[in-house]
Amino acid sequence: MKLLVVNGPNLNMLGIRERHIYGDRDYDALCRYIRGEAAKLGCEVEIFQSNHEGAIVDRIQAAYSDGTQGIVINPAAYTHTSVAILDALKAVQLPAVEVHLSDVNQREAFRHVSYAGMACEAHFIGLGFEGYGKAMEYLCGK
Ligand code: DQA
Repeated sequence: MKLLVVNGPNLNMLGIRERHIYGDRDYDALCRYIRGEAAKLGCEVEIFQSNHEGAIVDRIQAAYSDGTQGIVINPAAYTHTSVAILDALKAVQLPAVEVHLSDVNQREAFRHVSYAGMACEAHFIGLGFEGYGKAMEYLCGK
């Protein structure tokens, strides 16, 4: 099984940004965690991170024809604003799972809306790194 993990803006700043919310571990640690989980599950994984909405749309579109079988996505701030990412996920018709490190539902009201989440069949929210593992496990079990 070939999975694509998409991480949105500022996730590359993990370990520096708002550590009381996102923790001390940095983005490389997240990537190592994701690769470790993929190895345990016996699936192939590509990790993509961008701070640019259009680049994220382009990467999701490319997944339509590059053999990707499932998408794990943490669109970060674009979660709450981007109809373009929602439409891209709908366009490629691949199973998608939404992940957030923090519990967005317990934070500011503007974080309670998830556009991308509307195209996702499962959601792992507020579980830290483990949410990615659970999302990958969900997709590999399909
Ligand atoms: C986030 C939550 C978003 O609201 C925020 O903009 C992020 C990270 C999370 O993983 O908890 O950048 O997606």
